[in-house]
Amino acid sequence: EKIAVLVSGGGTNLQALIDAQNSGIIHSGEITLVISNNQNAYALTRAENAGIKALYISKKELKTQEAFETAMIEALEENGIDLIVLAGFMSILSERFTARYDHRILNIHPSLIPSFCGTGYYGLRVHEAALEKGVKVTGATVHFVNEIPDGGEIIAQKAVEVKDGDTPELLQRRVMEQAEWIILPESVEKVSASLIQ
Ligand code: GRF
Repeated sequence: EKIAVLVSGGGTNLQALIDAQNSGIIHSGEITLVISNNQNAYALTRAENAGIKALYISKKELKTQEAFETAMIEALEENGIDLIVLAGFMSILSERFTARYDHRILNIHPSLIPSFCGTGYYGLRVHEAALEKGVKVTGATVHFVNEIPDGGEIIAQKAVEVKDGDTPELLQRRVMEQAEWIILPESVEKVSASLIQ
């Protein structure tokens, strides 16, 4: 299976996928393309360092969401992509896009869905909300992507303890290290293997 990873930022989840591919955890698919909607995303550097084709597709230049998604679809088709992974990808995808890749787009969300998810809950905001609520346990979720933000079927979850005195940054780091970077590679391998059958 050919896998594309869509990114917008630092790319630590992409790095976890690359490392999992190198260690053999991911062996039923191959990451062959990285697409970023942010020209300065360090994730693009990570892809280049790993020898993976990396594209920047600019929503600014393409003006509309429609044109942006069409450009991404063209790149995905040209590269024969079977499975798409959203890894810190900060852009909503339309129903046109998600329906085209039904049950072939995975997303990592840094909370235990259905808590702290949906529009408005992304990045650090998710952890700020968890701390404001005073939850003792949070975590991460991998789910299929459909037209509802964070709405598709859940594939995997992993819980992480909230510690006294946690700041949003400390909590985000723990959720990434102890949950995101573990369940995303595992889920990518599981779905890739199931697509082959
Ligand atoms: C992570 O917290 C991830 O859960 C969220 O975006 C943040 C940065 O991800 N989706 P990455 O380092 O760019 O993979």
